[in-house]
Amino acid sequence: MIKVITYGTFDLLHQGHINILKRARALGDYLIVGVTTENFDITRGKINVSQSLMERMEAVRRTGLADEVIPEEYEGQKIDDIIRNNVSVFAVGSDWDGHFDYLNEYCKVIYLPRTEGISSSQLRDSNAIKVGVVGGDPTVYKLIEQAKKVNGLEISGLYSDEADIVLKADKAYKTFDALLAENDAVYVAVRPENRFEYISRALNSGKHVISESPISMDGKQAESLYRLAEEKKLILFDSIKTAYGLPFQRLVLLIKSGIIGEIKNIDVTCTSLEVKEWLKVTKYYSSFTGWGAVALLPVFKILGIDYESISFLTLNSDEFKDIYTKATLKYKDAVATVNVGVGVKSEGDLRISGTDGYIYVPAPWWKSGYFEVRFEDLAKNKRYFYENEGDGLRMELVRFVRSISDNANNYYLSDDISIAICKVMKQYKEAAI
Ligand code: CTP
Repeated sequence: MIKVITYGTFDLLHQGHINILKRARALGDYLIVGVTTENFDITRGKINVSQSLMERMEAVRRTGLADEVIPEEYEGQKIDDIIRNNVSVFAVGSDWDGHFDYLNEYCKVIYLPRTEGISSSQLRDSNAIKVGVVGGDPTVYKLIEQAKKVNGLEISGLYSDEADIVLKADKAYKTFDALLAENDAVYVAVRPENRFEYISRALNSGKHVISESPISMDGKQAESLYRLAEEKKLILFDSIKTAYGLPFQRLVLLIKSGIIGEIKNIDVTCTSLEVKEWLKVTKYYSSFTGWGAVALLPVFKILGIDYESISFLTLNSDEFKDIYTKATLKYKDAVATVNVGVGVKSEGDLRISGTDGYIYVPAPWWKSGYFEVRFEDLAKNKRYFYENEGDGLRMELVRFVRSISDNANNYYLSDDISIAICKVMKQYKEAAI
């Protein structure tokens, strides 16, 4: 019996996939199809697959062309599959020409003609969500760059009335209303004190919103925004990139599974030497406005939002308010310290202390793809590595697109946490100004 094997993501199964399966099937008597898992796809840079592994495997099964459908989980698995299953032919589309020649050592490698004019990427793009960006925060350049790598989303242009900062853009809208008229969603990157107004206007015009964090400087306002989004059946996303990246998600799940026991303390630091333009000119200029949301993320994700008290220690310079803030949160069974600074440099690491051990995430923890779980007995220490494509920003956009298409809640950064961050901002303002 001649066994043939082929692999692919098979997202949104299309005619190109059916053709390749038929062609591969015709090369032998038994066809094994390997479908790549989400994790494996992420490690090879393919992050915006629309369907789950189960759905994709089921779709391949339903073609009736495969005798066996298996998941492909790791680099090098192809060799193992070929040897274990006694495979004679490895077949793949001609877009991979030459790429799998190393498998010739184990079986015959055949590159089959690819079907012209169709691909999963194209299908994902065909209903692309049009996003207009409002605001002058230079981070939008990074957003535009990362958005190009995400199927199903297209940044159409910019609008900014923060006249002191002018961004260069291919397309600049003359008014915010013009931006609203031409887009399905809005990315809000205006100064913190203006976000509430722009988010409200966008939601009231029936547009989905993704906004820099904090989404408002007041918890009550933030609550009203989420209520409005729900009433209008729209998605409102809080854009803390770290929350959407794989390393941070895995870190939180690992902690929830009890690997270091009960959590008693979190120490988190975020600093940057560069002073953001809007921080210089806004009346709420402060390191806490700039960094607070990111720094509070691990605290709220791990210890929850029901802290008993919070206090702030803020340092002002002659020139600026709040160049450094230490915020301390007291919970019933734990404590946390948040250190943030702008124009001051420190070790931007994250330490989470538990009753059985601790986790260390090295600087800059908010982008890190690596962390260590450490115990009293050094032999038990473990290191974890994950891909963090585009520092979480690309993944965030993928999640945003998927939330819109599935009309699903934001699992990665809940409304409660987003609102709690805004509440802290108000407490900070009252304490520091
Ligand atoms: N394939 C094909 N013709 C197409 C699309 C895919 O022959 N028009 C083949 C690929 O060469 C590969 C298999 O189908 O052998 C699975 O490809 P996959 O990457 O899942 O599909 P794409 O449509 O290429 O996906 P994407 O756009 O996400 O890269």
